Amino acid sequence: TSILVLNGPNLNLLGTRQPEVYGTTTLADIEKLCAGWAADTGCGVAFGQSNHEGHLIDQIHAARGVHDGIVLNAGAYTHSSIALMDAIASVDLPAIELHLSNVHAREDFRHVSYIAKVAIGIICGFGARGYIMALDAMLAHVSDQKT
Ligand code: DQA
Repeated sequence: TSILVLNGPNLNLLGTRQPEVYGTTTLADIEKLCAGWAADTGCGVAFGQSNHEGHLIDQIHAARGVHDGIVLNAGAYTHSSIALMDAIASVDLPAIELHLSNVHAREDFRHVSYIAKVAIGIICGFGARGYIMALDAMLAHVSDQKT
């Protein structure tokens, strides 16, 4: 099994970006957490980040036939991008929507999600730990599908 963890705009600045909202863990720290999880479980994890909508779409397309599921923190594109939603719908891979912060406790515009419409589920509000929660959930989901 292999899972793609894909991060959208501004998440490269984690650690210094609004630490009161997103914490002080960097994206490199999160990548290490995910690599540790991969070593523990034996499940493959690929990690990506882009600030560009089209590049995120290209990476979702490229996941087809390579990975078994996608954990997607699309950042603000979550709330605006029909194109990202369509990309997920087009590749026929299970996707989990992920956010560090509890988007539902924040501004109204963060309560809207295009990704949620094509996701198997959503994890938000648990900070960096949410990545591990999402990986656990995706591995369980993919294992269920295979049996
Ligand atoms: C975020 C929440 C989004 O609303 C925001 O635009 C982000 C980060 C999160 O992980 O909490 O960039 O996806």
